[in-house]
Amino acid sequence: MTQRTDSIAPRTDGTAVINYEPTVEFGRRLDAADPLRGFRERFALPRGGGGEPLVYLCGHSLGLMPLAARGIVMEELDDWAKLAVLGHEHAHRPWIPYHENLRGGLATLAGARPAEVVAMSSLTVNLHLLLAAFYRPSGERRRILMEAGAFSSDRHAVASQIAWRGLDVRDALIELSPPANADTIPEEQFEEYLEEHGAEVALVLWPGVQYRTGQAFDLGRITRAAHRAGCVVGIDLAHAIGNMPLAMHDIDADFAVWCSYKYLNAGPGAIGGCFVHERHERPHLAGWWGHEPATRFQMRPEFHAAPGVAGWQISNPPILSAAPLIASLAIFDEAGMQRLRQKSVALTGYLEYLLDRLAPDLELITPRAADSRGCQLSIRVKGPQRRGRRVFDALTTQGVIGDWREPDTIRLAPIPLYNTFADTFRGAQALAEALRLEP
Ligand SMILES: Cc1ncc(COP(=O)(O)O)c(C=O)c1O
Repeated sequence: MTQRTDSIAPRTDGTAVINYEPTVEFGRRLDAADPLRGFRERFALPRGGGGEPLVYLCGHSLGLMPLAARGIVMEELDDWAKLAVLGHEHAHRPWIPYHENLRGGLATLAGARPAEVVAMSSLTVNLHLLLAAFYRPSGERRRILMEAGAFSSDRHAVASQIAWRGLDVRDALIELSPPANADTIPEEQFEEYLEEHGAEVALVLWPGVQYRTGQAFDLGRITRAAHRAGCVVGIDLAHAIGNMPLAMHDIDADFAVWCSYKYLNAGPGAIGGCFVHERHERPHLAGWWGHEPATRFQMRPEFHAAPGVAGWQISNPPILSAAPLIASLAIFDEAGMQRLRQKSVALTGYLEYLLDRLAPDLELITPRAADSRGCQLSIRVKGPQRRGRRVFDALTTQGVIGDWREPDTIRLAPIPLYNTFADTFRGAQALAEALRLEP
């Protein structure tokens, strides 16, 4: 971002202070100066029914397809066609150790050591597996703490794990609500809760980025507070991985889970992933794919775990839902998370600036501090109930794809890998028009 040196001043964190302007020309100038602009061409950009390009601000829900994914999936299909069962050992990328293709890239994005991560299964299933291992209620220390309004699947998983152990969900599930009239939860509130009640909490499940509000948490602080109180900490990185720089190993989180179809661009229903800190050698639910590979096919009844979190795998991996992730991780590796984050801060800052100016009928739910959010901005429309939904529908009609979360939230996320400043301008302009159409 060096085009207009008069309006861009570097900050110590490597991002820039940009004097934004509310015009598409300004957006185009920033795009021309963007060192990451070439990455957009590596993705399939969706089009409307009439072939017109859409403004896609929905990578927080389903990331776009890296064009290279097609070739990798086709190679796997070709290997299956040509080699059939021999592909397990003789495919271009042999299928037996397939997860190793993903390990390095995922470790970098999670901020972990390679042996601490594995691509496997899917998010909620992984959450169940890790809760089975890490949630050990005992005596008074029996509760799970999570944020109020958590993603439904996380809450279902937690509540059913509690009930499955014969405990009362109403007693053992604590959902921390934001303070009155606020949407987001300050870290101090979390710390204060645990200082007072931590002795009753066995496990904290916390989001890296909250799906509805877009609030990003200081995960080091969350983990320290939970460990001080004697609790195990699991992090849901669904909305954080590929969105923010992460440091799961250094912050000392106990475990983390994620999906790969959002910021990781691996396609609908793609393989999930998990992190378990290397200091944990604990019993877990086992399947043959977690067995030490050298002796796995001896098919003996006793289980010898593979080293690291690879030993937590259960089943052989779904090759066709893992293949696109190889293409995506290569792009992340080339772009670099630090550079992506710098652009992301600038892009999301531009969206915020435009919404403030073009659409005064909106209330921003997401924190305004760049450190407390990733790409996503969550917006509430002021006015009569259901206006928000009508505005969202009018936005979609104009070719801007975001998403709607009941009861009142529009989520928009400019993604630094494939969105432009001009896209962001068009998205905000369309939202202003939608507000005008739906008074
Ligand atoms: C925070 C969070 N948890 C859980 C899920 C459910 O994921 P899956 O269907 O892959 O288990 C999602 C999906 O969007 C999510 O965003």
